[in-house]
Amino acid sequence: MTAPLLAAAVFWATFPLAADVTFHKDIVPILQTRCQGCHRPGEAAPMSFLTYRETRPWAKAIRAAVLSGKMPPWFADPRHGKFVNDLSLAPREKEILVEWVDSGAPEGDPSQGPAARPFTEGWKIPNPDVIFEMPQDFPIPASGTLDYQYISVPTHFTEDKWVEMVEVRPGDRGVVHHAIVTAGAGAEGFSGRQYLAGYAPGMSPQIWKPGQARLIKAGSYLTFQMHYTTNGKATRDRTRIGMIFAKKPASQQIVALSSSAYWFSIPPQDPNYRVESSTMLREDVHLVGMRAHMHLRGKSFQFRAVYPTGESEILLDIPRYDFEWQPYYYLETPKLLPRGTRIECTAVYDNSANNPRNPDPKAEVSWGPQSWDEMMIGWFDVAIDAAKSSRLLRGFRGAVE
Ligand code: HEC
Repeated sequence: MTAPLLAAAVFWATFPLAADVTFHKDIVPILQTRCQGCHRPGEAAPMSFLTYRETRPWAKAIRAAVLSGKMPPWFADPRHGKFVNDLSLAPREKEILVEWVDSGAPEGDPSQGPAARPFTEGWKIPNPDVIFEMPQDFPIPASGTLDYQYISVPTHFTEDKWVEMVEVRPGDRGVVHHAIVTAGAGAEGFSGRQYLAGYAPGMSPQIWKPGQARLIKAGSYLTFQMHYTTNGKATRDRTRIGMIFAKKPASQQIVALSSSAYWFSIPPQDPNYRVESSTMLREDVHLVGMRAHMHLRGKSFQFRAVYPTGESEILLDIPRYDFEWQPYYYLETPKLLPRGTRIECTAVYDNSANNPRNPDPKAEVSWGPQSWDEMMIGWFDVAIDAAKSSRLLRGFRGAVE
């Protein structure tokens, strides 16, 4: 006899009255942690969700975007790996957003909401200790194809610097396809230099754990590798990089590595073409983060570790790769990869007409710099003992992204 009553009690406990949900009390905390990083003035999203007045007109669009999974942009299969910069909504947060919209998106009482989240204007990291920018605006014509540009600036650092946070900001997001900044001894060249930071749509800045940092040697030059794409409107760009120094020397140095495959050829019309790479680690490292890079035909990407014992593990699985979003996935807990571990990556490409981004399903596609060519790069960052010398420091090899 008691069973129906119990069921009713459970029902009410799981679904509070929709009228309870208000903007200030329930929605602002979610927007602050999951959305405002991009949805505020000067950031990637075209509309701001800081205030009720700004957010209210988007209520229906928010409901649709979170239900379809379009927003927030996050592509890792939650079954593999836990990431500090995870943007995805918990199931309960999604329910609250939907309940709020379904009950007419009420404002509620501002005094019940949290204080505004502090942000640094113009940056996602806190106020940088130092900012470098390209020495002059680079003109981008309305149409045509541009070669990669390499633009160097001297740091004038008189001592080695440990960098614990770093962010690259494009001047005009509409034309910067990607930017990579390396650090090295001279103003010329790109290979043999250390990767420092990059920008691509959807990428979050690098914020390392205490004790971890990248090293920039005294007297280094920074080189911006700029890939511009024209978008029908002539414009100018001056990309910047901002850094925050560690207050004391780091015990672990962050080094960028990659597992790539260069020799592939994707047949015309192939909806499911696989390319594999495998990279052997010759010393003990701690894996701290990963990022997949393919172009318009990219469909899925997976990172695996194959340990010296023969056991293997999926480190990051991106079942639906989206060229517009190439986030860096930072592990919550760095993972020891003992010497002899192989990092294996599998990239899958859709060269069929069913891929709405495919510029030409009749083309046979191989490695190349432009978006209609393809790439296959599994970027990963590792932390190494800063006191030991390491062959991993010989330089940045994946200079051809
Ligand atoms: C990493 C940056 C980023 C984050 C985080 C983010 N957005 Fe967005 N959002 C964008 C960008 C860029 C656009 C515009 C381009 C697009 O529609 O893809 C956008 C567009 C939207 C739109 C318009 C969609 C449409 O179909 O027109 C909605 C609604 C939205 N976001 C809601 C959210 C909500 C809600 C959250 C948090 C739960 C969120 N976004 C988190 C970057 C972000």
